[in-house]
Formats: sequence, structure tokens, C-alpha cells
Amino acid sequence: MINNNFSLIPESYLFSEISKRVAAFSARDPSRNVIRLGIGDVTLPLPLTVVSAMKKACDEMADAKTFRGYGPEQGYGFLREAITRYYTNFSVELNPNEIFISDGAKSDLGNMLDIFAPGSITLIPNPVYPTYFDTNTMSGNRILFADGNESNGFLPSPPSSVTEKPDLIYICSPNNPTGSAYTRETLSKWIDFAISYGSVIIFDAAYESFITEPGIPHSIFELPRARECAIEVCSLSKTAGFTGTRCGYTVIPDSLVRNNIKLSKLWLRRQTTKFNGVPYIIQRGAEAVFTPEGLSESRRNIEYYHENARIIISALSDFESSSHSGIKLFGGVNAPYIFMKCPNGLKSWEFFDLLLEKSALVGTPGAGFGSNGEGYFRLTAFGSRENVIEAAERIRNLSL
Ligand code: MLT
Repeated sequence: MINNNFSLIPESYLFSEISKRVAAFSARDPSRNVIRLGIGDVTLPLPLTVVSAMKKACDEMADAKTFRGYGPEQGYGFLREAITRYYTNFSVELNPNEIFISDGAKSDLGNMLDIFAPGSITLIPNPVYPTYFDTNTMSGNRILFADGNESNGFLPSPPSSVTEKPDLIYICSPNNPTGSAYTRETLSKWIDFAISYGSVIIFDAAYESFITEPGIPHSIFELPRARECAIEVCSLSKTAGFTGTRCGYTVIPDSLVRNNIKLSKLWLRRQTTKFNGVPYIIQRGAEAVFTPEGLSESRRNIEYYHENARIIISALSDFESSSHSGIKLFGGVNAPYIFMKCPNGLKSWEFFDLLLEKSALVGTPGAGFGSNGEGYFRLTAFGSRENVIEAAERIRNLSL
């Protein structure tokens, strides 16, 4: 028997669907220079410090005296220690044993379901990164939604009462796709809620390094009692350009216990059975991200993407001033995403087609992030400067 839960999710993953449509467009009209501001994929190369560390690790692999075979499934101690030092910037004290190195946030966000009972009830924001919905649906979990919309700034609060207790709660802050981010105060309401219902929060911090405003937590563990109810998943994809290099980490506090069992113990058991760890060379590169040089080079790249966001926002604002088409803008300040209400009340995929046909620009339809994303559209700031300037020009010249 196949897993029939797959019939409950869209046939293609959101970004595969977009790639298919763009490929069809380019095949029809190869002369158009398509600019992709769809998937959040970085364009700047890896920081030099990271590349040097990986080259050195390559040389070690070429010498029998320093060669490494299987590494620890949880990740090398040198990288887990570097991450604990990074967290002290947020006044968060972690033990390296609470950190699990992964090949990126996406894998752990879905794989984590292995340690929870099948048929769990999962609360997810709407709109949000589609991996949460897809993986929970594949696993047969029942999904409840926390509605994000313009009136709550796309930051849903915990429900004031529930008829069913959620076992799991996913929170993405800064949020993909809306770019909105919880403050300490608003995030602590979710912690209170999770503690009162015994739920576990899976906190996706993949965009923490894009936070520019004060008062926005980079880690859920900055907040009191989070260690009793939360797991944090993070990635170097956006922090340091690792989308193709693949490395991330998950923090499971020692004090996170359910049914008298430490969740970290179950996760280690799961990982040692199903995962052989991230390559040594990559982990040495990841370690270099957390050196002073690595952090400063990564921050320079993030500032470049922030400037891209400002260029896109300025073009969209000019477009709105001249077209009066009713677009509204969100995000772009604490995240690499600009989320917009589509012009003239267009639906997400209608605007996707219009922008592709008229301007050869690719974005991501908000409807792909959940029903509350219908009528909205996401643009990423991860393009090259040259492409972003050209895209801005095309946006200003767009005729509806
Ligand atoms: C996105 O565009 O939403 C992200 O790049 C997807 C991902 O990180 O997997």
C-alpha cells in the first residue's frame, strides 16, 4: 500500500511547480531574459573564510594521518561548541550536547515528526513555509491553523481557547513568506500557551540573521521557560550562503521532557539510525562561519541582500504611486522577503502569470504558503544587484 496521505498535499512542491512553469515559459519564448526572485536562493558566493576552512579540511582528507571516516551523527564537537559560543551573543547558554548538526532546516523540520506520535495534532500558521503543512500531512497528522492576516500583521496570537489541544506548534520568526517577526512579548504568549497545553513548539529560526530591529528575539531560548517547551531549528543557508553547501542545526534542550523521556534522547536515537551526519569538510566550513571573520563576511552579504530589499520596496512603492492598484507591502526589514498584496485584487497565481508574461519576472504566489496567502505575492531579495536593479526597472514600467 502506498501512503495515501500524499493525495492530501499539492501534487508538486511549491518551488518545483514554479520551476516547471518558468521552464515552460522559457521554452515558449527563449528570447526573454527571465529574472528569478522566486525561491529564496542566495546568489553571493560563500565567505572566503568558509572556503579556506573547507579547502584545509579537504587537504586533511587527503592524508591518512588526518583523514576522517564516519563522524558523530550528532555533529563534531568543534562545530557544536562554536554554535554554543554564537548563542552567547543572545545571552543564551547552551550545552553542546543540546545541539544536533543537520544538512539544513528543511530536513529536520519534517524528520522531527519521527519522535512524536503518529496522528498528532499540529498547529501551523497560515501563511507559512509549506514544508510544515506538507510533512505533517504526509505523516498523517491533523492540522489546525493559526490565521495570519493584515489585521494581526501576519503574526497570529495563540487562540484564547481550544477545543483540541495541539501537540505540536510550528512558529517561523522572522516569517517566511511574510517577513513579519514576533517581539519578545508576542512570542512569550506562545510559550505560555504551549506550557499550559503541554504542546511542543518547533521554532524555525532560519532567518534570524536578517533581524535588524531591536526587541526581536533571534532565538526562542532568549525567553523564559522556552527550554521547557521548544525545539529550535536553524540553518546556515541564509545566514552564510549554504543553500547548496547544506548545513544547519537543531537545538533540543535537556530539560525538554515528555512522558518522562528527554526529547533529545529520542532525536539522537532517530538520527543515529537514519542519518550518518554532515560531511567533515562542510562542518569545518560551518565552524568558520562562527569565527569573527566568518561572521563579519556573512553580515556583509546579509547587508547586500537588505539593500536589495530596499531597492525592490522602493520600486514597488513608486509603482503603487503611479498605478493606484492597491498593492500593500510587508516584510523586507527583518527578513529577505517582501510580501505584497497583489494589484487590482488579483489572485496570487494570476499575478504570477501576469508578471512572468509582461515583465519576465518570477516571484512566489502567496497562495502556495496557505489559503491566507491567496491574493498576496512574495519577492526575494536574494538576487544579484544587477538583476535586482533590472527587476526594479521592470516593476516601475509594469502596465496592468
Ligand atoms: C523559500 O524560498 O521559501 C526557501 O528558500 C525555501 C527553503 O529554504 O527551503
